Amino acid sequence: MRIGIIGSGMVGSSLAAGLARHGHDVMLGTRDTSNPAMMEFVATSDGQGYAGSYAEAARFGDIVITAYPGSLVLETLETIGAGNLADKVVIDVVNPIAHVDGATVAAYGAEDSAAEVLQRAVPSARVVKAYNTIFARRMVDPDPGDGPTTMRIAGDDAGAKAEVSALLESTGWSVRDLGGLEHARELEAEVVEWAASRDAD
Ligand SMILES: NC(=O)c1ccc[n+]([C@@H]2O[C@H](COP(=O)([O-])OP(=O)(O)OC[C@H]3O[C@@H](n4cnc5c(N)ncnc54)[C@H](OP(=O)(O)O)[C@@H]3O)[C@@H](O)[C@H]2O)c1
Repeated sequence: MRIGIIGSGMVGSSLAAGLARHGHDVMLGTRDTSNPAMMEFVATSDGQGYAGSYAEAARFGDIVITAYPGSLVLETLETIGAGNLADKVVIDVVNPIAHVDGATVAAYGAEDSAAEVLQRAVPSARVVKAYNTIFARRMVDPDPGDGPTTMRIAGDDAGAKAEVSALLESTGWSVRDLGGLEHARELEAEVVEWAASRDAD
């Protein structure tokens, strides 16, 4: 399968290396293709890894994975190009963590989610929320001794959820489908609340 990843930070790099190890062709999208994470990924991926811009990675992927700051969905979409996500299966990994007046808050409030913001902006995209509650280093082939091995997912498109479930199951996860994309709110809230309590310490 061809997988495009938007953002080459901890999540993007970790998923790119893990999915390439499973035999997928992966393009890691970045704003700067000369950055060290990108060069290391391409050099160590046994020919399965490619570097590209956000737009190139989105066009490349049968599945596109979002791995950028979750408070910047619409800004980042301008760089990706909404048309490049049309009809794509999109795995939305981001958390909408924002800082307002010294407090850590959900960027889109309790009645919305980053996943739904993206879905509304690109109605033909087939957005599935997944991975966002899992540490980056555990996203592929999770060690059962080191945390959960059931991935909760949410999305409105049954076919997209089937494709994402197959990818997850082939990389060490069992899958629990929470239902429609509105369930992304509770998945994102878990992480925003965790970040808020961490920041308060
Ligand atoms: N870290 C985790 O364990 C974890 C787990 C689950 C979910 N998440 C979520 O996944 C997303 C990515 O997390 P991460 O840990 O990979 O973050 P990170 O290490 O900070 O990387 C984020 C990447 O986003 C891209 N980006 C685009 N616009 C940016 C901007 N204005 N400022 C900074 N970076 C920008 C950058 O990639 P380029 O420079 O390549 O463009 C950057 O490397 C976040 O929404 C996070 O909440 C993280």
